[in-house]
Amino acid sequence: MRALFAALLAALAAQSALAVDRSKFRTCQDTGFCRRHRSKAVEAKWALDPKSLSFAGATLSGRLDGGEAGAPPLSLTVRLLDTGAARIRVVENDGRAPRWESPDVVLEDALRDSSDAAQVRADDAVVRAAAGETTSLPADSDATLLHWTSASGRRQLAAVRFAPFSVDVYSEGKHVVAVNSQGNFYFEHRRVQNEAAAEAASAALGSGGSAGSGRRILDWGEDGKPIYADGDDDAASAEAAPAEGQGDASGTQLLSNSESEEGMGAESFGGHTDNRPHGPTSVGVDTAFPGSTHVYGIPEHADTLALRATAPGSSEAGAHSEPYRLYNLDVFEYELHNPMALYGSIPVMIAHGQGRTAGVFWNNPSETFVDVAKASPGASARWMSESGVFDLTVMPGPSAREVFRQYTAMTGTQAMPPRFALGYHQCRWNYKDEADVAAVDAKFEEHSFPYDVLWLDIEHTDGKRYFSWDKALFPEPAAMQNRLAERGRKMVTIVDPHIKRDSSWRIHTEATDKGLYIKSKDGGDFEGWCWPGSSSYLDFTAPHVRDWWAQQFSLQNYQGSTGSLYTWNDMNEPSVFNGPEVSMHKESKSLGGVEHREWHNLYGLYQQMATARGQELRVADGNTRPFVLSRAFFAGSQRYGAIWTGDNAAHWDHLRIAAPMLMSISLSGLSFAGADVGGFFENPDTELMIRWYQAGAFQPFFRAHAHIDTKRREPWLFGDEVLANLRSTVRTRYALLPFWYTQFYHTHASGEPVIAPLWVDYPTDETTFAMETQWLIGSDLMVRPVVDAGATTADVYFPGTEQWLDVASMERLAPGRATVAAPLDKIPVYQRAGSVVPRQVRPRRCSALMANDPFTLTVFLDSAGKASGDLYLDDGISYDFQRSKSFRLRRFDFEGRVLKSSLAAGSKAFAVANSIERIVVVGLGAAPAKAFATNQDGAETEVDFAYDASKDVVTVRKPGVKAAYDFSVRFE
Ligand code: GLC
Repeated sequence: MRALFAALLAALAAQSALAVDRSKFRTCQDTGFCRRHRSKAVEAKWALDPKSLSFAGATLSGRLDGGEAGAPPLSLTVRLLDTGAARIRVVENDGRAPRWESPDVVLEDALRDSSDAAQVRADDAVVRAAAGETTSLPADSDATLLHWTSASGRRQLAAVRFAPFSVDVYSEGKHVVAVNSQGNFYFEHRRVQNEAAAEAASAALGSGGSAGSGRRILDWGEDGKPIYADGDDDAASAEAAPAEGQGDASGTQLLSNSESEEGMGAESFGGHTDNRPHGPTSVGVDTAFPGSTHVYGIPEHADTLALRATAPGSSEAGAHSEPYRLYNLDVFEYELHNPMALYGSIPVMIAHGQGRTAGVFWNNPSETFVDVAKASPGASARWMSESGVFDLTVMPGPSAREVFRQYTAMTGTQAMPPRFALGYHQCRWNYKDEADVAAVDAKFEEHSFPYDVLWLDIEHTDGKRYFSWDKALFPEPAAMQNRLAERGRKMVTIVDPHIKRDSSWRIHTEATDKGLYIKSKDGGDFEGWCWPGSSSYLDFTAPHVRDWWAQQFSLQNYQGSTGSLYTWNDMNEPSVFNGPEVSMHKESKSLGGVEHREWHNLYGLYQQMATARGQELRVADGNTRPFVLSRAFFAGSQRYGAIWTGDNAAHWDHLRIAAPMLMSISLSGLSFAGADVGGFFENPDTELMIRWYQAGAFQPFFRAHAHIDTKRREPWLFGDEVLANLRSTVRTRYALLPFWYTQFYHTHASGEPVIAPLWVDYPTDETTFAMETQWLIGSDLMVRPVVDAGATTADVYFPGTEQWLDVASMERLAPGRATVAAPLDKIPVYQRAGSVVPRQVRPRRCSALMANDPFTLTVFLDSAGKASGDLYLDDGISYDFQRSKSFRLRRFDFEGRVLKSSLAAGSKAFAVANSIERIVVVGLGAAPAKAFATNQDGAETEVDFAYDASKDVVTVRKPGVKAAYDFSVRFE
């Protein structure tokens, strides 16, 4: 009995010794604006004034009236883009400086208007076709209709309704997105707190405060200026607008006491008070996706891939009672399957239903809650943001891949990583000293275990002063890096955003003297507690601070660094141990005077941006691609590097959740993402280690990491058998590096994700819609790793109508469900029929050593005897692929028993000598009589091959052709 009890306890402890401290984090109920949005089915009905409308270029402009009494009119624009997307913006039109917006999320200069956009009438035949003959369009007196064609020829239609204001978007005859169809458009105009609250706040601060003068606004003039109750209109114009949007302290409307009670005034939580000196400024709306059954995206949450219902009253099984929250936070011991905020936020949602996909991008970096509902006629979302402007882009698809392109056309595509970054990374908090680093590196050599990067965590620094080294432990850091570099390896050091307040440290004194720190609400440098103790935080939102930061990575400034040193930006939500919700006070201010609440979710993006720039600047001509890992992220972070999912745990359920978390991030434009392999907290047993490496090897960013209190777990510490297993897994990753690198080129070029759920390519197969245990890499490989303790089989779903090829056994599997054997040395990975997958199979100890290695092509024919694929080649490190188009994208097409390699459009100058050493063709049906290869000079020779009749596999060895050049191989 006692033994049983002990076993039970042990099992429970192994299950979950972790638990998030929920009392530290606000819920919707704790948050005034979320409560207001959720409870107020807004009384105000905003109406678009038909007389105010104008259409120029590809943009409709108009005036929205309504809202609460005394609210200023709003300006609406609907811009029709050549990608097929429509961008809807609503801003205040009250004569004051506009609200703050980041100039660095949307690539404004890259946006193009549709060249075929017009305001149209409902009886137009083209219009009817664009909306679908079955749709009843509103009469011209209820709405105005906009028609536009995307660059790819898709016909779109938007019906912009007047009263109440709403927008319906149709694509290729289908109604795909409805904006404000539920009337939740909400826009709190700027004002200040009531005098009493403001006075109290200013007394508490002991400084001027920002109490309003109490002048009441009667109405708003056509010119957008307020008309005051005291009749002295001129005074309004005499009041200078503050430099930044939020700071208007006078002339604005008062909050009544009841409004304060509704959470519009000061708000306290967890011992911190947010005085909200500028009053409430929240914005929100609902977006519905007719015909969709599933919604995805809005990372980062440790939850299922298909989002669950959260809206009050949702009856769906598994529904959450809290909305999904987007507020970058350092959540210690995060829990799974809840909608709490985590380290990063991307306000992008993708909706999918039978044969249609659409998305929306809610461009707002302030704290945001998202309610999801699943009611008929389709899934919907309600967006609720604490502040910022209303900037919503509707991405009508109609395919998922088109949505990805529409989104990344706005926020940029994934930065092309240096090739080494796709290898295996070995990390731990901490590798103790130079001897430890040398010993770990030597063990990798000894065991012929491939790895590319060794990482150093915070303990390598001199007292958590980043850009420095603990002199006793790391006396010769440059020599240490050079030793790694001699073997083609790199090092990464951690550089966090908090700066130790140490007046004898140059970084701190310079930052102080130059005034580079974020300011607290009372004007001094913001101080908070983090790893080094008392710290200040650089204002990365300011371009000159980013420039200064970038300079710190120069080889002169970062003493002991070399050109093979790269960077890890952690704690950049930002994490402030003694701050509200372990982060920064919302009243603290950027150097531009903008409150933290406005840009909270952008802090990590800006740090990563500045760090990546620093790595570029340290080399002459800036011609080296950076590698920066960040923990916090926002829409657009993909342009600056990789992210990881933070502090997970060595539990099976954390291994399982990595896949949906990474797919959700990937669908939202950020492909270079990974989870700590092995689990950060606690100690994985050997089985979990093995299975985690297997999954991690097929996820984009592949790094093992562990907490300082865990046992050492380098691959050789688990015995020879486990070592061999892990090595074989990592070698599988390395063999596929050419395939991964090609997929990264594609995501960089087109914005399509590197890993994706199956529904992206099988959009009508409902079985795939909620599937999250298996995923696609590009379109041609599918992986379903084992993620359950003790499992020796895996249930795999093979989508489509063609067979799939087990890449290890070369067995073929029929479409549909199957249970496959998956002993500990098996990773269920399959190649799609009709594809060509490139590999470099010679075992090497790091990716640099593979540069000249030959390639193997595996051609798996579909039932028509065809296959195609590609291979991207460049120098792996520089920007020459952009600057001088120095790359090769080789295309492989197999048809009529001939494999042809040709140059894909766009590439030219990159020449390498790598040969093709092996061509494996699966599915020819019978042994060919002869095989001939033609090289780039047109010379044809007969080549040897072997045929395995049991698997119908032809292997051509040494065809004498080169990877970078045209060739063909034909079978007789
Ligand atoms: C944070 C990071 C973790 C790192 C640790 C020490 O917890 O998420 O990866 O090891 O800080 O720097």
